[in-house]
Formats: sequence, structure tokens, C-alpha cells
Amino acid sequence: MSFGWGQSYTGIRPLDRSLAINVRTGGLVREGIPKPESFLYGVGLLDGKIALVTGVANRWSIATGIARAMHGHGATIVLTYQGDRVQGEVEKLAAELGGAAFPCDVSDDASLAALATSVREKYGKLDTLVHSIAFVNKEDLQGKVYTTSRAGFALAADISAFSLIALTNAVAELLSDGASIMAITYFGSTTIVPNYNVAGIVKAALESIVRYLAYDLGDRGIRVNAISAGPISTASSRQVRDFKKMLDKVSAAAPLRRNVTPEDVGKTAVYLASDLSTTITADVHFVDAGYHAMGMYPEVVPAG
Ligand SMILES: NC(=O)c1ccc[n+]([C@@H]2O[C@H](COP(=O)([O-])OP(=O)(O)OC[C@H]3O[C@@H](n4cnc5c(N)ncnc54)[C@H](O)[C@@H]3O)[C@@H](O)[C@H]2O)c1
Repeated sequence: MSFGWGQSYTGIRPLDRSLAINVRTGGLVREGIPKPESFLYGVGLLDGKIALVTGVANRWSIATGIARAMHGHGATIVLTYQGDRVQGEVEKLAAELGGAAFPCDVSDDASLAALATSVREKYGKLDTLVHSIAFVNKEDLQGKVYTTSRAGFALAADISAFSLIALTNAVAELLSDGASIMAITYFGSTTIVPNYNVAGIVKAALESIVRYLAYDLGDRGIRVNAISAGPISTASSRQVRDFKKMLDKVSAAAPLRRNVTPEDVGKTAVYLASDLSTTITADVHFVDAGYHAMGMYPEVVPAG
């Protein structure tokens, strides 16, 4: 049985007799057996590294894809959870990955200090810090930006941007020389994405913070980067009005003609956490199937 590019057979496009790319996950799989978790796993790019991954809320979180990918490459995974609502889910994932889970509310300095103490006592160091946290009031993810309240702006900026500064400060002494910090951002930081609104404005701040932290920590060989993920359906993104339409636009217009997944983000996170990227810092890396490079949607180009 043979299948060409663009043909679909349970989402798998054969490359050769034994390997194929799973269109949904991008992971390498044995022919006919979708095993995205096998993507280069066993290579151990993160063997011996301790990774603190914030922002897991449930199995759809981008942070879940990152934690799984890093674990697959040998990292010891330390997760955080914000409050009782998500504690059970996060502890379940931590147990599955053989790691730990600690509470952390980034709006609370005492909570950040307690997290640092817990990590120090249990692990003594950190090699990777993943910031995968954002919060914006739902009413500020639609309509006019100029109706954003002062309090709504301050909340969005505190949780979605300042928290990277606060988190880094809390664990700075634990970071090993050559450690890697990464934050998850979105294209709406530098472009107008209707309804993303104040979320985009504070992502611009987040990306600027990434650059300044890269300078601050560069003398220790510590790298700080952002991953700009394409739209992915999660509890947070679904708060953005008309979010589903964004998914359709990206899969229609992006050079790779697809959306991305938490697993895709996870693979790039592994690269950024690994020694493959020791001179890569202060940058924003797009994991968006190339959408950011499009200057015009295909459908507006006249045919012929
Ligand atoms: N989903 C997308 O389309 C998309 C695209 C680009 C970037 N991002 C970014 O990815 C990151 C993760 O979001 P997600 O889409 O996985 O959604 P998610 O809802 O699964 O994750 C958001 C996380 O932020 C945490 N959080 C919120 N307030 C917090 C606080 N005060 N203290 C500690 N944690 C807090 C939540 O507990 C949750 O785990 C966010 O920064 C988001 O802006 C998402």
C-alpha cells in the first residue's frame, strides 16, 4: 500500500519503509503505529538536567507537552500548580514522569520563595526554567483595546509578563551556569491580532523581558529565549473571542498548512534546554508552522 504527500491515512505520511511522520504530532513513528512519544527519545539530550516547568493546568496545556518532551529526553521534571483546582491533575503528571509538583502562584512573592526553597531542598539546582503562564480577564480578550480597565491591564501584565522577572529572581541562585530559561509567547506581541488585545501588549513586554534577562544572566552562560507558539486550543486560548477561527486561518495560510501542538512546542523546548543551543539567547523562536512569515493570505492572491 502506498500513500503520497498530501494523502491522508490515519494521519500518517510514510517517508520510507520503516519511518513516517505523524501529521498531527510531527513525531517520528513506526509505520502504521503512531507513537509520537518516540520522537528521538532515548537520545537523552537532557540527561542529568533538572527542569522546572510551570504552567501545567491539564493535559492540553502547552507546558504538558514541554514536560513530556523534556522527560522523554532524560530531564528530571519539577512541575508547579496554581491552587487546589489544578493540583490533582499536576500531581498526577508529576507522578507519571517520576518528578515532583509544588504549589506556585506567581502573583505572590511568598509562594515564589517557598517554591525556591522546595526546589533547593529536593534538587539543589536547576538547569532549565520554563515559564508557560498567562492570565487576562476574559472581557479584555474581545472588543476594543481602549476599553481595557486599569486593573485588567495591571493584572495581565503582572501574571503574564512581570512573573518572568519574579520567577527568575526567585530561583536565580539555583540556576546552574549554562542553564536555559524559556517563556512562551505569541505573534500578537508584534502584530495586530483582533481580540488578542491586551494579551498581545503584555506579550510584547514579556519578549522584552526575555532580552533584558538574557543580558543580565549571560555572564553566567545562562540563556533566555522565548518560543512563539502558533494557536493551540487550551483552557487559556479558548478565552480569546473567535479563537477557533484563528486555528482555521493558520492551517489554511501557514507554509506548512497545519496547526502546531504542545508536542511540537515541546520538541523546540528540548532543543533550547539542551547543549545543542548553548550560544542561542535573547531571541524569539517561532513554532507556528511558518505562519509569522506570511505577508498575505493565499486566498487574497488572484488565481492564475
Ligand atoms: N494556546 C495558545 O494558542 C498559545 C499560543 C502562544 C502562546 N501561548 C502561551 O502559552 C502559555 C501557556 O498557556 P496554555 O495555552 O498552555 O494555557 P493553559 O491554560 O493550559 O496554561 C496557562 C497556565 O497559566 C497558569 N497561571 C495563570 N495564572 C497563574 C498564577 N497567578 N500563578 C501561576 N500560574 C498561573 C495556569 O494555572 C495555567 O497552568 C501562556 O503564556 C500562553 O499565553 C499560548
